[in-house]
Amino acid sequence: MPVKSMYERLGGMSFFEALTQRFYAKVATDEVLRPLYPEDLDGSRQRLCLFLAQFWGGPRAYEELQGSPRLRARHEGFRIGAREHDAWLQHMTAAMEEVGLGALDETQLLSYFKSVASHLVNTRDDALDLDDGETCPVPGPDHPGPAQLPIDKRGT
Ligand code: HEM
Repeated sequence: MPVKSMYERLGGMSFFEALTQRFYAKVATDEVLRPLYPEDLDGSRQRLCLFLAQFWGGPRAYEELQGSPRLRARHEGFRIGAREHDAWLQHMTAAMEEVGLGALDETQLLSYFKSVASHLVNTRDDALDLDDGETCPVPGPDHPGPAQLPIDKRGT
């Protein structure tokens, strides 16, 4: 008997539809994430749904619609720091809990989401704010790096 794909095991397209609907319902009211997305969240939801379905062994509909995923490049236009990363994962974790998954499937999906989300981070929240034209000092005993500065001296 052929081994079932994760896509099939989870219940096919309707599972990914339910998951992404729950996820985007949370994005819709999130003050960190909402500004990053276009007004019409349904297109965004559909792309994420088709991408996930394809990744886990379903039909290759995402590729037909959007071409190669190149997720890192597709996220480059958005500022993704620790706050965005954490908010995204928080909503996806809650969405997964709502749709209800077996413990093993939940662990597998979550570790996948965590690894992709950290790969997509493209901004350091604690980067120095160099608005006075200075060059960034090399961190060292005389010039502590951002992580060693008191919170009120860090950039956003
Ligand atoms: C780390 C936090 C993340 C943020 C802040 C973020 C934000 C965004 C934004 C603003 C878009 C554009 C919406 C649109 O499609 O019009 C987008 C698209 C997308 N994101 Fe993310 N994302 C994150 C993580 C992820 C992860 C972990 C995945 C996959 C596991 C993912 C998959 C996608 C896909 C497939 C699209 C549609 C790309 C396209 O075809 O244009 N994102 N994301």
